[in-house]
Amino acid sequence: MKHYLSINDLGNLHEAVQEAITLKKQPFSFAHLGKQKTICLLFFNNSLRTRLSTQKAAQQLGLNVMVMNFGNEGWQLEFEHGVVMDAGKAEHIKEAAQVVSQYCDIVAIRAFAGLEHKEKDEREEVLQGFVKYAHIPVVNMESSVAHPLQALADAITIAEHKTIERPKVVLSWAPHPKALPHAVANSFVNMMKLQNADFVITHPEGYELNPEITKGYQIVYDQQKALENANFVYVKNWSSYADYGKVLHQDSNWKMTEKKLKKAQFMHCLPVRRNMVIEDAVLDNNQSLVIAQANNRTYAAQLVLKRILKNL
Ligand code: CP
Repeated sequence: MKHYLSINDLGNLHEAVQEAITLKKQPFSFAHLGKQKTICLLFFNNSLRTRLSTQKAAQQLGLNVMVMNFGNEGWQLEFEHGVVMDAGKAEHIKEAAQVVSQYCDIVAIRAFAGLEHKEKDEREEVLQGFVKYAHIPVVNMESSVAHPLQALADAITIAEHKTIERPKVVLSWAPHPKALPHAVANSFVNMMKLQNADFVITHPEGYELNPEITKGYQIVYDQQKALENANFVYVKNWSSYADYGKVLHQDSNWKMTEKKLKKAQFMHCLPVRRNMVIEDAVLDNNQSLVIAQANNRTYAAQLVLKRILKNL
């Protein structure tokens, strides 16, 4: 593997999940791979899980790790070509990416959607800027449109907890006070395309995801109907895609409750706002897989970094 930008870079998902589960049993078995090599983790946005799990994964592979909160501490980057840089942006992506390439062997980037300009977000300008100008492999730690490390962790979690060969998996929108990006939901849908599962998406009208991503999938606007006989329920908020980045409403009827969940296992990428998105009772009962998902972020990252290191 050269870069890890989307879940499709894994090839066979089942094989990747099994490889990650094997790594989880013996996390230090490839500690020689990263010896005398360095990964640089660049954060343009906040993080808890991605930062710590990717760092842990890298260390378990023997890598040196450098972490930078680029959003607060780096120079503001320019991405346009041919502009006179006479305003706030002090450094161009062309130099920044080449300079970073000299300090490390792999670079991982987190840069969320701004949710103001759809075309700009869909260009994934930070991530793709590094892909274009850096000379080293690039890992997506959540871009403006995708969160493939989360999706791989979710696939590992489903594999570990499914009790039937072809489970019913429901992705349900939930209310949230702020406008959130589509990256987690997009990558979850793309990951589900590679699964043997009955997959249903449910959300209020107006919250349709990018139709290119959901093409071929059943969208059910009645949440109760969608949840019937579900084995896994993945809850996530996202803002409108058509009315780009807008919160159309925060209908609390869509909040996930113990009563709606019935016997299904519950998933969420975290962080989650209790009693806004999901009621306490769901998070606090043993049907919740959220802590297991967060744990699997380490082995998702470790699988990806292992494959990249083997290719260096
Ligand atoms: N799920 C996830 O990416 O968590 P963080 O934003 O805390 O990294």
